Amino acid sequence: MQQSLTDLLGVRIPILNAPMTPQAGGALARAVGEAQAFGMLGFDEDEPEDAIAAQVAILTREPRVPFGIGLVAWVLERRPQLLDIAIAARPKFVSISFGDPAPYVGRLHAAGILAGSQVQNRKWAQTAIDAGVDILVAQGTEAGGHTGAVGTLPLLQIVLEMTDKPVIAAGGIATGRGFAAVIAAGAAGAWIGTPFLLAKEARNTQAARDRIAASDETQTIYTRVYDRVQKKAWPHEFGGRALRTPFVERWTDREDALTSDPEAASAFRPEEKIYAGQAVGLMHEVRPAAGIVREIYDAGVERLRAIRL
Ligand SMILES: Cc1cc2nc3c(=O)[nH]c(=O)nc-3n(C[C@H](O)[C@H](O)[C@H](O)COP(=O)(O)O)c2cc1C
Repeated sequence: MQQSLTDLLGVRIPILNAPMTPQAGGALARAVGEAQAFGMLGFDEDEPEDAIAAQVAILTREPRVPFGIGLVAWVLERRPQLLDIAIAARPKFVSISFGDPAPYVGRLHAAGILAGSQVQNRKWAQTAIDAGVDILVAQGTEAGGHTGAVGTLPLLQIVLEMTDKPVIAAGGIATGRGFAAVIAAGAAGAWIGTPFLLAKEARNTQAARDRIAASDETQTIYTRVYDRVQKKAWPHEFGGRALRTPFVERWTDREDALTSDPEAASAFRPEEKIYAGQAVGLMHEVRPAAGIVREIYDAGVERLRAIRL
């Protein structure tokens, strides 16, 4: 029989906070771990190594909680030392997303670390399976941050049909209803990002929190504007889901025109760039991460128990 996700990860609750950079730092991952779910730390592409070490130290101080680290494949190609830093932190699990994890899975396994990857369609699911990952994360387009173009529910069904490995669902899960839905479909757990943007422990500004709390589910856009204007090396196939602004609405799908017009590009305000998913429509206040975990899990379990067909 397949080992459950909670046994694999050494936690009680099959909820993981998404390794959002820079929002999911050590404090958020630790709070999620202390709530008996699984905390993930995201390594940012631009974050200096001493700043990363400071976030890791929050998680590795005694008493340790099980935790994971999220890395981005194309960032690893440029900063391969991030994998060494991740392995040295002795996490239970490392996810390598947005590219092929194959070059790294062997080193993770040799260090006794579970390997995973977020996948956005059948092609990336097959790539992750071929790479030998232990856990797949089906990341739907509802998700905040960089993602693909397929909705969570069709993608989850596709990936579950492709593998017997544990498949975690990501994208748009923010309440017990969403948690129960993906578990009932066969997901091994839920990977949750946007709701933790309003966690007290997230690395987020007050202005960003206020905008997230005030936004509804129609106020996100799937865009490559920020990557193009900031000259980030994100592969074209991964756009990002962010809150709408007049700037991003004006230039989405017109990125070439934007980048060839220095005056237009100079209107970009970095503080306006807020990546968030459609679940923003379900969250309205800042709360401790433990409360978010408990509410989603308890309500989800109650719903699953109440199912009558
Ligand atoms: C602000 C933000 C930053 C993110 N950064 C990363 C990242 O650095 N690495 C990563 O693998 N996923 C990242 N993600 C995507 C999440 O891992 C996850 O797929 C997503 O948050 C799940 O959907 P949800 O936001 O609807 O909960 C980010 C998401 C957000 C909202």
